[in-house]
Amino acid sequence: MVPRLRGNWSPPGDKSMTHRALILSSIAEGRSHLYHALNAQDTLATASCLRSLGIKMEMGSQKIAVIGQGLCGLKEPSRILDCKNSGTSLRLLTGLLSAQKFESILTGDASLRKRPMGELVSVLTSWGASIQLSSRKTAPVKIKKPIQKPKLLKIKFSYSSAQYKSALLLAGLYLDRLPQITETFSSRDHTERLLKRMGIPPRADNLYIPGDLSSAAPILALATLLPGSNVKIQQVGLNPGRLGFVSILQKMGGHIEITKQEEDYEPWGDMVVQSARLKAIHVTPEMSMRAIDELPLVCLLATQAEGVTRVEGASSLRFKESNRLQLTYLTLKKIGAKIQVTPDGFRISGPTRLSGGKVSTQKDHRMAILFSVAQYVTSGDLKLEETRSIANSFPDFKKTLNRLCEKN
Ligand code: S3P
Repeated sequence: MVPRLRGNWSPPGDKSMTHRALILSSIAEGRSHLYHALNAQDTLATASCLRSLGIKMEMGSQKIAVIGQGLCGLKEPSRILDCKNSGTSLRLLTGLLSAQKFESILTGDASLRKRPMGELVSVLTSWGASIQLSSRKTAPVKIKKPIQKPKLLKIKFSYSSAQYKSALLLAGLYLDRLPQITETFSSRDHTERLLKRMGIPPRADNLYIPGDLSSAAPILALATLLPGSNVKIQQVGLNPGRLGFVSILQKMGGHIEITKQEEDYEPWGDMVVQSARLKAIHVTPEMSMRAIDELPLVCLLATQAEGVTRVEGASSLRFKESNRLQLTYLTLKKIGAKIQVTPDGFRISGPTRLSGGKVSTQKDHRMAILFSVAQYVTSGDLKLEETRSIANSFPDFKKTLNRLCEKN
């Protein structure tokens, strides 16, 4: 029996926006309400760090109330702040805490302690902060002295990163002007949009957090691949900086139609996806930037598309929760894909029949989701080493698939 996906579904709240909304409402004065915030391991890590910094939160099923203490209201933590697996928590909180008048230490799990912090910390150090990293320039991050009044606030990182940019904007809230960050390709602008909405310094607010496009992506991919599928995805974020995957899929011949669009501090709306036959395309670095977390899914789709797909501008995948460039390449190759790695991406020839086998996720949530999607298109049984990591961003992923999946 060939399964297909059908029905209506609203993805969980956007992860990037939830981290930012939690942080900015903590340093706003008064009570903020966050509606439809993501309740997953990564965002809980940010919430727990903020609690250790003296912020009170009331977690309800429909909303989170954050009792903000104002720009200078955070308290010195009595313990090490554990960001678990979450890069966004570590980078953004490093920026925020580098501007506080107390010392703090941030760390995370084994994967997070491998991820680069050097470039961000060297900017904060050039602003007068005293911050110590491990010898590999990774967490633990020991913040000993805050940033002073830097003269130069023009920054260009070696690659565009929304996490680095947001960290500097958060630190910049404590300076007399915000830093100017130049990017080769614009990274997601959720921090800028929230600051525009909440003001500088941030004021308490009631915020609705749209659904996460990155969690909608595996459903979009699977509905495209399984003949006879038709899914309406409701109230999903439509920020242009995040829509790369939708444009890529549409270019490949995918049937995705945005059927409703609303604009608040972030755009959001509904889309309908139907199954389609795919053709290969050239994914440029600019497109990759807007689909960075979805590029492994693009590779899987490319194995089922007619022709040779080239993906460029994907080097930063090496520094995610796992080395996603290598893991995508090795795993898809192992199960029969015709895939090559290039200096900054992939070349994939399709269509190919994928086989089963046992695969490692390296405890990376997006890789576990990718291989769970692949399970539906492999001819043999594909076994995943673990799927617990999925709870970092999308705890109800399996439940969602079971609900939308119809056996023909
Ligand atoms: C994120 C930015 C991206 C993305 C990550 C979330 C954010 O990372 O991969 O999952 O919330 O700002 P980089 O900023 O390192 O590219």
